[in-house]
Amino acid sequence: MDKKKITEKMSWGKKNRMRKIIQDDGRVVMLALDHGYFLGPTRGMEQPAKALEPLIPHVDSLMLSPGILTSSVDPAFKGGIVLRSSGGSSIISDDLSNEGIILTPLEAIKLNASAMAISIFVGSKYEKQTLMNLAQTINEASKYEMPVLAVTAVGKELEKRDARFLSLSSRIAAEFGADIVKTYYCEDFERVTTTCPKPIVVAGGPKLETELDVFELCYNSIQAGAVGVDMGRNIWQNEDPGAMVQAIKAIVHDNYTPKQAEELYNELKNKNK
Ligand code: R5P
Repeated sequence: MDKKKITEKMSWGKKNRMRKIIQDDGRVVMLALDHGYFLGPTRGMEQPAKALEPLIPHVDSLMLSPGILTSSVDPAFKGGIVLRSSGGSSIISDDLSNEGIILTPLEAIKLNASAMAISIFVGSKYEKQTLMNLAQTINEASKYEMPVLAVTAVGKELEKRDARFLSLSSRIAAEFGADIVKTYYCEDFERVTTTCPKPIVVAGGPKLETELDVFELCYNSIQAGAVGVDMGRNIWQNEDPGAMVQAIKAIVHDNYTPKQAEELYNELKNKNK
């Protein structure tokens, strides 16, 4: 099935929410800033309202926690709002995968959310608990036609980012009924996108060495079938986050190549100097 047509059978309410996230061209630039839910004040996101200023005009949707939405985002924001709905462990706890559900669909609706985001930690000690978090949220959210985005989290074990693991996690999320799956780019990424029947967005992970590395990650992900990015640190930890997000947007929505995006980034960065 064409993933662009995935919303066709949805109710009007769910379709409307999904369209706030995935745009008319079937693509999305989602800015992830939910890191504080387990990392606290992450570098580049110490003051979310300030960090968001140059970024908000260029993103289709935001992925963030409820407290940062209400404290740091102007209620006039018209884009999609994807709310972090699982959590419960911090970076200094024994096991990041020990998560529960932190938000109900009703609270999400009160915040005018477009979707709820739940992490699943496949292969971890708390695998079942996190999969049950996803199942429970999908069942509850369905009563309100609220989409659910599943995050295929890898916790501290970044070495798990290979096609075998990510296709396993993404497929499980899709089978449970997640509407969008967030995962990582990896070698042989097509194996992940082609075996997951739901739209896939890619995270950036820890900051990469060069801007070109980030643009290649975005470009290759889209070429391999992702509908867009759900990216954080590689945007807001950059020297010029505003230029970075615009260059990524050009890849996602205007099919820029990594080189063209790099040129645009340099042009915008020089203008801002
Ligand atoms: C994981 O902690 C969060 O869900 C982030 O939203 C996700 O990792 C994407 O952010 P980044 O591009 O910084 O990896």
